[in-house]
Amino acid sequence: MPKSIRRYLIAGNWKMNKTASEGIDLVREIHQSVGSQSDVTVVVCPPFTALESCGKALEGSTIHVGGQNMYPENEGAFTGEISPVMLRSLFCNFVILGHSERREYFAETDAFINSKVLAALESSLKPILCVGERLEEREADQTKDVVKTQLEGGLADVSADQAENVVVAYEPVWAIGTGKTATPEMAQEVHHFIRKWLSGRFGDTAAAKIRILYGGSMKPGNAQDLLSQEDIDGGLIGGASLQAKSFIELVTIARALS
Ligand code: PGA
Repeated sequence: MPKSIRRYLIAGNWKMNKTASEGIDLVREIHQSVGSQSDVTVVVCPPFTALESCGKALEGSTIHVGGQNMYPENEGAFTGEISPVMLRSLFCNFVILGHSERREYFAETDAFINSKVLAALESSLKPILCVGERLEEREADQTKDVVKTQLEGGLADVSADQAENVVVAYEPVWAIGTGKTATPEMAQEVHHFIRKWLSGRFGDTAAAKIRILYGGSMKPGNAQDLLSQEDIDGGLIGGASLQAKSFIELVTIARALS
């Protein structure tokens, strides 16, 4: 099936940056310049404290809001956590899950991430499931094994119908925030491997619809080559999503390829 059945998706992962008022300034600029186009799916993922104000500032635009994490229960005694229902009530329809920083600093396992993926889908939140190898794993030629284990674990018990609402983000850990990007060919090889795995697990039709994003130092200077690859359907953008100019440029590059 041709790549054109998948709309490009550009998602900004702000991480722990921007107060609510700084967030409003950023999304207003984004709204102004790309807030009425629908060639590309655009998502911004502010910290929880800026979700409501950003969501309101984006009202009437085509831009989606997403969370960066969540707990897999709708309510209860889980101090400090945020539920899928809470995210939905703050305008979110996407949520980033299993980011390598969560896996590393907060010891998140594939099983825990899987429970979040299932809870997100149940609440009509589209999970952006992050997978990717560390430098030592790439050097030991374990990239595909690591990614396969993360996919098997993270997507356990997801049905083929649900799978169409899943977004996968391939983020080689050694490329995140380091300025080192995987070459387009290196990234494509892993994206192709992911698509094949998805076909085996969910069938060709669902796999052809699932968007696989690349993440790790994507910026306007390297986006065109990455996004032109057959199985790269967008980007999960950290650093370059914190300034309106670079984020808008990324959306513009994806639109031109659409
Ligand atoms: P980066 O982050 O673009 O700053 O490398 C990407 C991510 O961690 O999602």
